[in-house]
Amino acid sequence: MTAPLAKTPKRGEPIGDLMSPAPDTRKKIIQVEGLERRFATPDGKSNTQVFGDVWFSIHEGEFVCLIGHSGCGKTTLLNILAGLDAPTAGGVIVDGKEISGPSLDRSVVFQSHALMPWLSAIKNIAFAVESRWPQWSRKQVLDHCQKYIDLVHLTGSESKKPVQLSGGMKQRVGIARAFSIEPKILLMDEPFSALDALTRGSLQEELLSICAETHQTCFMITHDIDEAILLADKIVLMTNGPEARVCEIVENTLPRERTRQDAYTHPNYYPMRNHLMEFLVSRSKRFSQELSSGSYDPRYPPVVRPTAGPRDAGASKAGEPQPAQDGAKYGDPLR
Ligand SMILES: Nc1ncnc2c1ncn2[C@@H]1O[C@H](COP(=O)(O)OP(=O)(O)OP(=O)(O)O)[C@@H](O)[C@H]1O
Ligand SMILES: [Mg+2]
Repeated sequence: MTAPLAKTPKRGEPIGDLMSPAPDTRKKIIQVEGLERRFATPDGKSNTQVFGDVWFSIHEGEFVCLIGHSGCGKTTLLNILAGLDAPTAGGVIVDGKEISGPSLDRSVVFQSHALMPWLSAIKNIAFAVESRWPQWSRKQVLDHCQKYIDLVHLTGSESKKPVQLSGGMKQRVGIARAFSIEPKILLMDEPFSALDALTRGSLQEELLSICAETHQTCFMITHDIDEAILLADKIVLMTNGPEARVCEIVENTLPRERTRQDAYTHPNYYPMRNHLMEFLVSRSKRFSQELSSGSYDPRYPPVVRPTAGPRDAGASKAGEPQPAQDGAKYGDPLR
């Protein structure tokens, strides 16, 4: 059970402005508000809540990762953001409008590449580009596709069909296709999980540099803590299902401009990593105790900033996660 809402804001109302100590003025591109998804039990006689009372937001240009154990509802949540599934309660607002289905302003990179096997790499991308800009000439479409083929380092493999591409190359076509329609939001469901460590590492770095270049807003599901620390500005921690909740939002305390090497050697890297690991190993399972303590408000999941040392002298012990910059233990869910 979660604490009852003290005040129920209307859909789209800037609840952070009502409740948080310091209103955040940055543009919010996604607002997830009170989301719940239930599925019928196999006998059809009742239903199970996969997750409920999920509140968080994503700002324009922000990279947000979602971490949680298998079965807690991550893919279900992403499908709802994509408009491929509908919530049982609550809603998702994109750029000020509640979504009601899929749209070209949100593109998805699935766990498996989901390419059309009968089309070449460039034609797989062109299919999406033609849907986005049906008025474009063939040359415009092909030039645009080539730009994204080059961006993911697939130059020379344009005419290969998926069967002729390696797993990493197929994932790159999927990423190029998702980027090529210049969506407001890129949604990714464990896009690199099926790849070997070397390929995964190079694709993560490509994604990092593409995002730095394009300022793409991204929401990505991952099981990989290092991937989240490398890529994300903010990491949403989801507790175990059923009845999963957003336990906490972790702000990445590593500098925004980072490479893998910088990340590993930064003093905040291990505090970040240890905090996330501790969540996955133990807190994700015993979160119900935190819920029953009564201080948890699902609209304002705690926002923490794990760092190697105190921000202000005497503020906290080294390695201890610190509350968000505004000093609020319970932060604005629309941060
Ligand atoms: N269409 C459906 N009908 C019934 N139950 C479903 C349906 N889709 C998902 N579920 C259930 O919802 C829960 C969450 O599934 P989901 O695929 O979202 O988990 P996940 O967090 O993405 O897991 P993983 O990390 O293994 O990919 C699971 O218990 C799953 O069985
Ligand atoms: Mg999943």
